[in-house]
Amino acid sequence: MLRFGFDHFGPADVFTAIDAPTPVPKPGQVLIDVLGFGLNPYDASLRRGEQADSRPLKFPIVPGTDVVGRVAALGEGVSDYAVDDRVLNYRPIGGYSEAVTASTGKIAKVPATLELAAAAGLPNIGIAAYTVMHQLLHLTPGQTLAVIGASGGVGSLIVQLAKAQGLFVIATASARNVAALRDLGADEVGAYDETDTGRLFADRADAVVNAVAGGVDHGAAVAIVKPGGVIVTTAWVDVDTTGKPTITHLQLGANRPAKAEDALPALLALPQLRVRVAKTLPFTLAGVIQGHELLETHHTAGKLVVLRH
Ligand SMILES: NC(=O)c1ccc[n+]([C@@H]2O[C@H](COP(=O)([O-])OP(=O)(O)OC[C@H]3O[C@@H](n4cnc5c(N)ncnc54)[C@H](OP(=O)(O)O)[C@@H]3O)[C@@H](O)[C@H]2O)c1
Repeated sequence: MLRFGFDHFGPADVFTAIDAPTPVPKPGQVLIDVLGFGLNPYDASLRRGEQADSRPLKFPIVPGTDVVGRVAALGEGVSDYAVDDRVLNYRPIGGYSEAVTASTGKIAKVPATLELAAAAGLPNIGIAAYTVMHQLLHLTPGQTLAVIGASGGVGSLIVQLAKAQGLFVIATASARNVAALRDLGADEVGAYDETDTGRLFADRADAVVNAVAGGVDHGAAVAIVKPGGVIVTTAWVDVDTTGKPTITHLQLGANRPAKAEDALPALLALPQLRVRVAKTLPFTLAGVIQGHELLETHHTAGKLVVLRH
């Protein structure tokens, strides 16, 4: 079977096609015939060698945390899945493959209403959004959450999870995405490129999530959070809280991610779950390289997904 990986660190074109034996599912696992996989900034960071010290891996390295596919075989003891079920899988690595094995705790059935590309883009950003809402924040219905970068992959899922929890949601993004944020269910929306959203929503939120890629929010999070409130950043950034010393800053990456078996079913149960897909690419070496070149631009609106058909 075909996999896409690299045997040294480098730019996007460091990828090669690798021929590998099809894995055999162990007890409690299924074999998944991969129909598509999502590309994430973390994959590009692995490829550039930035994770080499914190996570030493043997070459060839095959990235890929997000997979959607069809169950092709069952390992011993698996009874809650059947051959041909469409599933998604959140995995530590190795998703850029024609076939993978996965424990049943790391997979979930894909509802018929969810398109393949959306399913392929969901696991990584979904686990991040779920971790923020269920492990870092402990808000109760009626409280106010502000989401900065609400049009992005993580931000748009946080808006949906927050509305499902009965929160009042303030959302900010660029003006071209204001209608999309209303459509997601945000109660109040601000365009950061037309107005000073920090001033517009000053001291309104019990908690603020800054889900802007790279974390730059121009001070909006501190302005919007109430004194004594919480700011969560999904990127590794510092927050200057000297203007409001009673606020707490939590970093997503400093916390253990939520378990896939908790997060994936909760995400898939969201009414009208929406995952924004920026571009689908072919399941070829050229497709993977082009996807990684696009990852480097940081300017795609939504997920990059490789689809097999
Ligand atoms: N630790 C983890 O486990 C984990 C997992 C996943 C992601 N992350 C991190 O989370 C961050 C978000 O990832 P993502 O994939 O959701 O990014 P994304 O899809 O690129 O979304 C970011 C959004 O931020 C908006 N934005 C940019 N500048 C803004 C500003 N000043 N005010 C308000 N909105 C602004 C953009 O919207 P417009 O186009 O409307 O400007 C964009 O849609 C990244 O830093 C990523 O590395 C962490």
